[in-house]
Amino acid sequence: MKPIRILILSTLLAVSVSCTTGRKPSTVGTTPEVERRVEQLLSRMTLSEKIGQMNQVSAGGEVANYADALRKGQIGSILNEVDPVKVNEYQRIAVEESRLGIPLLVARDVIHGFHTVFPIPLGLASTFDPALVEEGARVAAVEATGQGVRWTFSPMLDIARDPRWGRIAEGSGEDTYLDTRMAEAMVRGYQGDLSDPSSMAACIKHFAGYGAAEGGRDYNSTFLTERQLRNVYLPPFEAAVKAGALTLMTSFNDNDGVPSTGNIFLVKDVLRGEWGFDGLVVTDWNSMGEMISHGFGTDRKEVARKSLEASVDMDMMTYGYLSHLEELVHSGAVKESDIDAAVRNILRVKVLLGLFENPYVDVEAGKAVQYAPEHLAAAQKTAEESAILLKNDGVLPLDPGSAGSILVTGPLADAPHEQLGTWVFDGDPSHTVTPLKALQERFPGKVTYVPGLRTSRSRRDRFDDVVAAARRADVVLAFLGEESILSGEAHSLADLNLKGSQSELLAALQATGKPVVAVVMAGRPLTIERDLPNCRALLYAFHPGTMGGPALVNLLFGDENPSGKTPVTFLRTVGQAPLYYNHNMTGRPYNGETLLDAIPEEAGQTSLGNTSYYLDYGAYPLFPFGYGLSYTTFAYSDVALDKDVYGQDDRIKVSLTLSNTGSREGTEVVQVYVRDLVGSVTRPVKELKAFERVSLKAGESRALEMEIPVSDLAFYGLDGVKKVEPGAFRLWVAGDSASGDPVSFRVD
Ligand code: BGC
Repeated sequence: MKPIRILILSTLLAVSVSCTTGRKPSTVGTTPEVERRVEQLLSRMTLSEKIGQMNQVSAGGEVANYADALRKGQIGSILNEVDPVKVNEYQRIAVEESRLGIPLLVARDVIHGFHTVFPIPLGLASTFDPALVEEGARVAAVEATGQGVRWTFSPMLDIARDPRWGRIAEGSGEDTYLDTRMAEAMVRGYQGDLSDPSSMAACIKHFAGYGAAEGGRDYNSTFLTERQLRNVYLPPFEAAVKAGALTLMTSFNDNDGVPSTGNIFLVKDVLRGEWGFDGLVVTDWNSMGEMISHGFGTDRKEVARKSLEASVDMDMMTYGYLSHLEELVHSGAVKESDIDAAVRNILRVKVLLGLFENPYVDVEAGKAVQYAPEHLAAAQKTAEESAILLKNDGVLPLDPGSAGSILVTGPLADAPHEQLGTWVFDGDPSHTVTPLKALQERFPGKVTYVPGLRTSRSRRDRFDDVVAAARRADVVLAFLGEESILSGEAHSLADLNLKGSQSELLAALQATGKPVVAVVMAGRPLTIERDLPNCRALLYAFHPGTMGGPALVNLLFGDENPSGKTPVTFLRTVGQAPLYYNHNMTGRPYNGETLLDAIPEEAGQTSLGNTSYYLDYGAYPLFPFGYGLSYTTFAYSDVALDKDVYGQDDRIKVSLTLSNTGSREGTEVVQVYVRDLVGSVTRPVKELKAFERVSLKAGESRALEMEIPVSDLAFYGLDGVKKVEPGAFRLWVAGDSASGDPVSFRVD
């Protein structure tokens, strides 16, 4: 890579823009009037008041604890206070009792809904439905702002290719394009019309590369090259910046030895310099302080200086800025102009959000919108679109008319808190509708519930009670998986099989000969290969949220037809991690060579082939990216392109016919993948470039056209410059990343 060249280029660009307009175009949509207000305020601030704006603290507890600091202007933002009465009191002190009356930014991790909990972000991504995800983010904003929260630490845009990493739950999975589309949708949904009090600032996080933690162990180091960062990990952030994201959070990890909060290349050069981001950059929780643990600085003074040098504006919970910036300015180690730049970014967000005009929340009106029926309906629809049917021998959908007696079992059948997923601070489990509750409501008197296992980790040798109940039932529904607490931050796992005796429970049920349907609820793709033979159908739901129960029941009984697709590769065994569909072409691609188990013992030592695979597990996953079944079937035909050769400014028009070849209405996620055959550097074997949800009646066929701008084929090649390299390409249109027949085209 030659970053210098890129930087020179971007600097030249920036200079030419600022020569004509006076400043770079704003990414957050500021106006001369907003800037005038920011400057006016800034000119009246003392150094200590400026530094106060750069300090974020976790509230909670008594307002009185922070009253003094607020009056002195030592706090710019609080997080973790969602009692609207207290929020108003904090604001009142800031606005009425501090010298300059600057309102606070009140922040919270509203990750997949506030009170009404939507599926976890990995489940949101499974919908491949950005419009629906945008609607969900809007619901979250309406509820959270109803209690005074005007800043959410979401969306998380970390690409995650290792399911051991617990935070895979919080993002959109392994694919850059899908992540990008979800990022834009969530930013739009949260922020809406900024000055409307029901809008909240989005915070894109964690910048950057955090999901590539070595070994999938949270907080671990990453070693991403600049090319990987630019081609895979950064594009969702850049797209979200372009979509107007107001704020960004630096990550905990060190990449190639440089912790993000002090990473001048990432934050100052790329984010600020190249992308022109003029929003607010906040550290992660104490990530400034953790640079001392990283061994990247000796004390808080040094890491505070390094953070400011990287152009990080706000310190979450290290108190490094508050304690040391003033003396750093006085000693000449830090320039006050750098502090001014940070404070401008903070004030700009406050002005844009209309906080100076509307610092307070209307407590009564806010109460009325929590768990509103339309919010619950949106959460249910999202959970329905998000569940993925991974196996079905035809047993599903169950016929509600002749449902007979239903045995419900498994640790996730009636676990109101656990189906909500990770990062749920505010969703109240008493509002959760579990599958058991939904089934009992729908089929009164027909449901028997024998949990079998109390939690996912419980162990038992025998399941006599469950087996006896299964023998009496007409159908068995087993709700398995992992609880909320097993995924999310700091919750990485080294073993991804169903925990406890869940697999044994499923096997015991299957042995009864009764039709067994497994529903797995989890925060990550678990390794369920050994469980597939022990059920006739398997529906996978990344923790589906408040309305998970009715959503799953509607799917099981055919009121809704599954349409979710895997946003991440499902592994056969954890030892395959990381395994993702869009890996680079190797020099020795796997060619279907025989696996160890298929070689007779008598064969003795034998060479099994010299390609890239595991002798025992091969090279393929259990389910590829983009995969998911429906109760109907779809056929693709007439796939064609409008040209054989495209120019750099063209749009590739892909036409096809999609037919519903089954007997039910259904929705298919049509996916377009591209491979760049030869590059100045090796290229991914396939990359998703477009997708669209298409609903068709039974027997219906529809001609479709999808477009890909040729510019979307650009990447950072050997010279470190982003461009489309001319040459030959292949394109697939299919219902998952492993299907379809390629068509060829060229770019000149
Ligand atoms: C997490 C962030 C979160 C922050 C504030 C940190 O531990 O990494 O994602 O936004 O806490 O709660």
